[in-house]
Amino acid sequence: MKRILFVTSEAHPLIKTGGLADVCGSLPKALAELSQDVRLIIPNYQALKTSESVRFLCSVRVDNRNVNILESRMPESHLTVWLVDYPTYFNYPGNPYVDELGEPWPNNAERFSLFCKIAVEVAMDRVHQDWKPDVVHCNDWQTGLVPALLSIEHNRPSTVFTIHNMAYQGLFPAETAATLNLPGQLWHPAGLEFHDMLSFIKGGLVYADFITTVSPTYALEIQTPEFGYGLEGLLDHRKEFLGGIINGIDLDQWDPKADAYIAQSYSATTLAKKQANKAELQRRFSLPIIDSVPLFGLIGRLVEQKGIDLILECLPEMAAMELQFVLLGSGDKDFEKQLQELAALYPDKIAITLGYDESLAHLIEAGADSFLMPSRFEPCGLNQMYSQRYGTLPIVRKTGGLADTVVDSLPETIADNTASGIVFSEASSGALLEAVKRTLMLYSFPKTWKKIQVNAMNKDFSWEQSAKQYLGLYENL
Ligand code: ADP
Ligand code: GLC
Repeated sequence: MKRILFVTSEAHPLIKTGGLADVCGSLPKALAELSQDVRLIIPNYQALKTSESVRFLCSVRVDNRNVNILESRMPESHLTVWLVDYPTYFNYPGNPYVDELGEPWPNNAERFSLFCKIAVEVAMDRVHQDWKPDVVHCNDWQTGLVPALLSIEHNRPSTVFTIHNMAYQGLFPAETAATLNLPGQLWHPAGLEFHDMLSFIKGGLVYADFITTVSPTYALEIQTPEFGYGLEGLLDHRKEFLGGIINGIDLDQWDPKADAYIAQSYSATTLAKKQANKAELQRRFSLPIIDSVPLFGLIGRLVEQKGIDLILECLPEMAAMELQFVLLGSGDKDFEKQLQELAALYPDKIAITLGYDESLAHLIEAGADSFLMPSRFEPCGLNQMYSQRYGTLPIVRKTGGLADTVVDSLPETIADNTASGIVFSEASSGALLEAVKRTLMLYSFPKTWKKIQVNAMNKDFSWEQSAKQYLGLYENL
């Protein structure tokens, strides 16, 4: 049995901005189910939601600040959660990283540096809990200083750093390194320094004993300039200690047979019932309630990564076709505005909801016929897996985890029952439009469509296999 300290800046259902939370909410539970001793550590944000009781655990002093650590549990599980409670830094409303205008909180470096330092105190058991982990598993830039700081400790636990997204690196002006009181020996170009900036993510990439990312394809992609953002050389240098492990999904939370958020539960053997969700979705979005019109859905952060520009270019042409399109998301204000304008132009075809809505996300997965995910890059992506589980065929671009989890519908894959969606290659609106047309064609053959739906719904996206791979990795460190 391994003792694992799982360090993350978000975990569903405590706090979530994207897939990182889904993964950090479910992977530790999957590891605990494999009989591992796992504890999760996370900042105690104002917006953090827990239904479990919270108790004071201990107090620790770093950088002349007294920080409390509180203990709770992951809702509906036995997983221990340690909350880093420092109101000056974490008692902010809303999103953990940005203010209501989408601007990063001005003291993010200080906030997450403090969080990392506390995680190190816990990892070295200087908090006197008689619990010292064998492995500290860190996630994304917010936790990047942990492997760096641990690298200079004696008798330290092993470290794993998981990259969920290379596009977010935690870069700050060089002077910040001094303000944060970071050990001088970490400050050099082969350390935390990156083009005269302080890079949090480099703390993970340089100093972790092993680096993982969330799909095998993305693990290769980030070793190239297109996806590596200047860190491809470092990743190539460390490739012996770099691997891809595909994310799983939480099969209890995303289950069309028992989803409290949807209008009608259904399964691969009762697919006809899915239609009730489509009708409810059309009603919620004030679209004409017609079953025969194929309904496309999209949920996501409205950022460049997700190929929203490609969608915007295609929508006028899509609006001329026999289809409907619904979107739920928030992000880039310019994207939001353009989407709103298109919805106003084509009210019978295009409908959007700006914002974050957990229950509506489930209804879209259940009610749409097809799910659009034309990402320019996608480390793993979860919605294409949720979609398959809900028999909502994903249209994805062949990149990262999308390439690893969706099988294109071609004559041979339809024949051998592996087809589970529609895959296209080029990041262009023309290629996306072709994929949409191909989907409409497939949809016009109900028997084939249903066959692909059943293939998709029967695929195994559980965490078990991936959690076993992480465990194998911990054991080999
Ligand atoms: P990323 O982490 O890059 O945002 P993923 O596909 O890995 O992409 O995960 C996104 C997660 O966030 C999914 O669980 C998705 O349903 C959820 N999500 C994204 N935007 C919204 C939204 N506006 N409302 C509800 N859920 C959302
Ligand atoms: C990131 C990626 C996404 C991935 C998620 C969880 O936010 O953008 O592709 O699924 O992390 O690993």
